Amino acid sequence: MEKQEITLENILERYKDTAGPGDQQAVIALLREVQQLYGCVPDSVQQRVAQAVDAAPSLITALVRRVPGLTPAAYRHRIVVCTGPRCSAKGGTALLRAVENALGIAPGETTPDGCFRLETRNCLKQCGSAPNLTVDQTLYASVRVEDIPNLLKRYREPSC
Ligand code: FES
Repeated sequence: MEKQEITLENILERYKDTAGPGDQQAVIALLREVQQLYGCVPDSVQQRVAQAVDAAPSLITALVRRVPGLTPAAYRHRIVVCTGPRCSAKGGTALLRAVENALGIAPGETTPDGCFRLETRNCLKQCGSAPNLTVDQTLYASVRVEDIPNLLKRYREPSC
């Protein structure tokens, strides 16, 4: 049995003839392997991927931000704030601002300590209990702005 270590170099080598601006599915497959290797696709690696597949760095950055399951930075907890019409009408926009201010990040970003990643979703399919957000697999319903500090504290300690 031969053991081969998976490295960024051998991932890039395997995709060098197939992945490129004309084949985004191959680029996404490559990025998924990178994600498995590092747990994220950091900025420095995005640059290497762009060079290797002869694509604009902005294309790679856009894919990492938009393709579900890819992230530019490792994180422990993923917060998704609903920005759908029912939640927005019931304070969801203020909720999102409160989370952004508390964490110092915008949607699509990860806190520098890697504790939280913030995302938005157009509807979490729980409109009856708007405004809603999720943290990892847990739904928080009828959330108020004043709930945010304690909610974040619950996840920040002791795991982050
Ligand atoms: S609009 Fe927020 S759950 Fe549907």
